[in-house]
Amino acid sequence: MEILIPAERIQARIRELAAEIDSSYPDGEEVHLVCVLKGGFVFMADLVRAMGPRVTLDFIAVSSYAQGTRSSGEVRMLKDLDSGLEGRHVVIVEDIVDTGLTLTYLQDILRARAPKSLRTACLLSKPSRRQVSVDVEFIGFTIEDRFVVGYGLDFAEKYRNLPYIAVLDGE
Ligand code: IMP
Ligand code: MG
Repeated sequence: MEILIPAERIQARIRELAAEIDSSYPDGEEVHLVCVLKGGFVFMADLVRAMGPRVTLDFIAVSSYAQGTRSSGEVRMLKDLDSGLEGRHVVIVEDIVDTGLTLTYLQDILRARAPKSLRTACLLSKPSRRQVSVDVEFIGFTIEDRFVVGYGLDFAEKYRNLPYIAVLDGE
């Protein structure tokens, strides 16, 4: 396995992203993070600990990839949020934006819940794979079209625990 982004680089970038997110809201305003399971859980855990004190969080689960490395184009809600979003500053926290289909779906359903603002943070972006244009305000790293694992991202549910981003052999 080839290491694409070492753990230290991820951690340094997350501190920058946390500061960027914090400073983009007026002082004292609460920010509500919505982690997209399962891939977003490691990113969320590090991001939230690098942010200021006025943060709340919740989890949502969707499935976008049936199996393996190809998008089915179909998004299904597996677990909804515990609390409402009305009047809150919401940030979707996702592992990667690839075709953009998952985030488009999520942004549409969350926007319908009338948040005060809705933004999106993705650790990774693969712009060359985009099928729909989607706004992502906070991006950790832009990468080429290679299938990556680690730091929350899986291949067939494996490798989520790696502290770095790696390219699978043969990719
Ligand atoms: P999209 O709907 O095509 O943008 O897909 C987003 C989802 O596909 C992400 O949340 C990941 O779960 C998964 N995904 C996309 N690219 C990769 C990858 O390179 N490795 C692992 N999962 C990926
Ligand atoms: Mg995901």
